[in-house]
Amino acid sequence: MRRLVFGLLLAALPLVSAQAQSLTGALEWLPPGSLSVESLTRHPQEQLESGEQQSFYVEFGRLAFRSPDTLGGTARKAGLSCQACHANGFATKAFFIPGLSDKPGTIDVSHAFWNLRGEDGTDNPVEIPSLRGVKTKERLGHDKRSASLRDFTRRVIVTEFAGAEPDALLLDALVAYQEKLQPAAETAVPVTLQQDLADLLRYLDALRVPLAEEEPALAARITVMIRGQIGFIYERFAEADMRGSRGALEEWSRRLAAIAGQAEAGHWPQAREALKVLRQAVAAPPPALAADLPRALYDPVRLKAWISKPVQ
Ligand code: HEC
Repeated sequence: MRRLVFGLLLAALPLVSAQAQSLTGALEWLPPGSLSVESLTRHPQEQLESGEQQSFYVEFGRLAFRSPDTLGGTARKAGLSCQACHANGFATKAFFIPGLSDKPGTIDVSHAFWNLRGEDGTDNPVEIPSLRGVKTKERLGHDKRSASLRDFTRRVIVTEFAGAEPDALLLDALVAYQEKLQPAAETAVPVTLQQDLADLLRYLDALRVPLAEEEPALAARITVMIRGQIGFIYERFAEADMRGSRGALEEWSRRLAAIAGQAEAGHWPQAREALKVLRQAVAAPPPALAADLPRALYDPVRLKAWISKPVQ
């Protein structure tokens, strides 16, 4: 880090987005040149050990890994999550933030940009590692400083990215997810609406657990994270005339908020029923989404044009 760079970063009014999941968050909070259309439109295939049949811990960890809410400070504001740097558990090789990276795929994680308290007074970008096989590693970190995935994960959240102290469940979940990232050949696949909607169904299935357990705090936490993921889809339907698509996504998000409200009020049967109905709606999405998709920002050419537009 450098004091000067820090000042510039804060002052920057960026025109472009990083390989964050949030386009608008990155637009607002990251400096110009933090852009990779490539990593916003293609990512390595996930390939989890034991496929799509996973425990609640793994599913919650998977969602938390993709949720900026897990982090704090600038990372959260910019819509960055673990997934932005470690896409589907691999290293995001195109990740680049001017002033914080010296070449693509590197980043200074001990920088005041992320956490004033973590600033170490040196410019020290390091390579983003793949998390594949992290379960069997004896030491973690480029300097081999940690022997425990759980401790390392806590440090990433609190010390590097200024997040709130994670509780035991969040750490268990993030560790459980990372332990499923077995070594695998890296196969790049497009980022698609279809995959995002399939993921949304998985998140909704995870929400069934706290609704069955009647745990309002966990239900609230998961609904906030899922709404964040719906927000990422929403950002891809950026045109004002995409009312059908945007309206449907807003409606899903509102229904999730209502479910959290019902959980908070102890109206469990209603909350469970509302989740069932919402799941059906997501499983059979309105035709507007498919109709608007060719013009949505899943398309690399459209995304590039959108990112290059002057500040809206
Ligand atoms: C802005 C990019 C960025 C984000 C966001 C990020 N990481 Fe990392 N991660 C890195 C870099 C860079 C390193 C290497 C740091 C080091 O070696 O000290 C790293 C290292 C790790 C390691 C050690 C891997 C090894 O083999 O030594 C783990 C585990 C890890 N990150 C997990 C996470 C988790 C979990 C999150 C979210 C809570 C996260 N990271 C968010 C960039 C990031």
